[in-house]
Amino acid sequence: MNKSLTPFKEPVYVTRPLLPNLSHFTDKLAEIWDARWLTNDGPQHKMLENKLSEYLRVPHLSLFNNGTIALIVACQSLRLSGEVITTPFTFPATPHVLSWNGIRPVFCDIDPETMNIDSSRIESMITPQTTAILGVHVFGTPCDVFGIQEIADRYGLRVVYDAAHAFGVEIEERGIGTFGDVSMFSFHATKLFHTAEGGALTYNNLNQKQRVDLLKNFGIKNQEEVMMPGINGKMNELQAALGLVMLDYLEAERSKRKEIQELYHKLLSKIEGISFYESDRSALKLSYQYFVIRVDAAKFGMSRNELFDELKKYNIYSRKYFHPLCSEYACYRHIPSANNANLPVANKIASEVLALPYYGGLSLDDVEKICEIISDVRFAVGQYV
Ligand SMILES: Cc1ncc(COP(=O)(O)O)c(C=O)c1O
Repeated sequence: MNKSLTPFKEPVYVTRPLLPNLSHFTDKLAEIWDARWLTNDGPQHKMLENKLSEYLRVPHLSLFNNGTIALIVACQSLRLSGEVITTPFTFPATPHVLSWNGIRPVFCDIDPETMNIDSSRIESMITPQTTAILGVHVFGTPCDVFGIQEIADRYGLRVVYDAAHAFGVEIEERGIGTFGDVSMFSFHATKLFHTAEGGALTYNNLNQKQRVDLLKNFGIKNQEEVMMPGINGKMNELQAALGLVMLDYLEAERSKRKEIQELYHKLLSKIEGISFYESDRSALKLSYQYFVIRVDAAKFGMSRNELFDELKKYNIYSRKYFHPLCSEYACYRHIPSANNANLPVANKIASEVLALPYYGGLSLDDVEKICEIISDVRFAVGQYV
């Protein structure tokens, strides 16, 4: 440890959930108590659905109790089967959702810059069993949505997006949730916009919303008819109320994160061996969900794993996000596409990425100190103990 830099007094985690002023939330809870309506499409739920459709610029949206159930239902609603081509560089939920639908995930390598599914490699993974492409807008960077749609149209495939990281992202003022057949957003506590647990599906087609809304409520159409084997995916009124309150805090949180991101960019770009992906801001509205760097061990003088361990000594808890790859999990490593030879880029990137602390409550002084520590620790190996 470099003795001139002292560790943070309190642990600095990679994220910290944003919470509204308590009285703001309890005022909203009073509305629920007055209405005595706790779940099943109540007034808070209706309000949040409308407000989010507007905010995300999508024609139709369905709320869910979490993003994973939402994505399971998305696959059901499109009647996907056989094989679905997806990325190994994602959160476990993405391939697990396919398994829960009896679908075999087929792992496609990722783009060396954006870290999203590499659209130029998708075609080579298509077989007669393929029914869809499941892309993930990793860290909020959009997939090659136009290239993916072109392939899907040519082969008659469905397109599903895991947009868990992409809340509020727009491409040329078009909501990211309008691309493909359906997109899933997660409102987990760690997300920029959250409802403690929660999620949503978005789509352009009203029929699809109607089908999804049945599926997420046991398939119940009315007291006499159950249309299909549905599930319980409903968001309750307390979650929806929290979401409505959180919307008032969203823009302030986004601008704080923007400032933090800019400072990270400025300070880290001076450090040899540290890089980060910068989207083309001219056409994009960003999500400010994560701040992830890549560590080039040869140039930086220390591996990602060593940097992760060093930062802990300073009370900084970064995350190796996403490591390991989904293709390395015991439940998927037997799949032919999980073979390392098929995924050279994903394997390299998974060994380089590190998510740094990133939330509106992080002070700019703390960001400066984190960057100073990163800059200094590489000289520490073998020098300071
Ligand atoms: C890429 C991705 N997909 C899916 C999920 C699952 O969402 P949820 O936690 O809302 O079920 C997450 C995590 O939160 C995620 O990061």
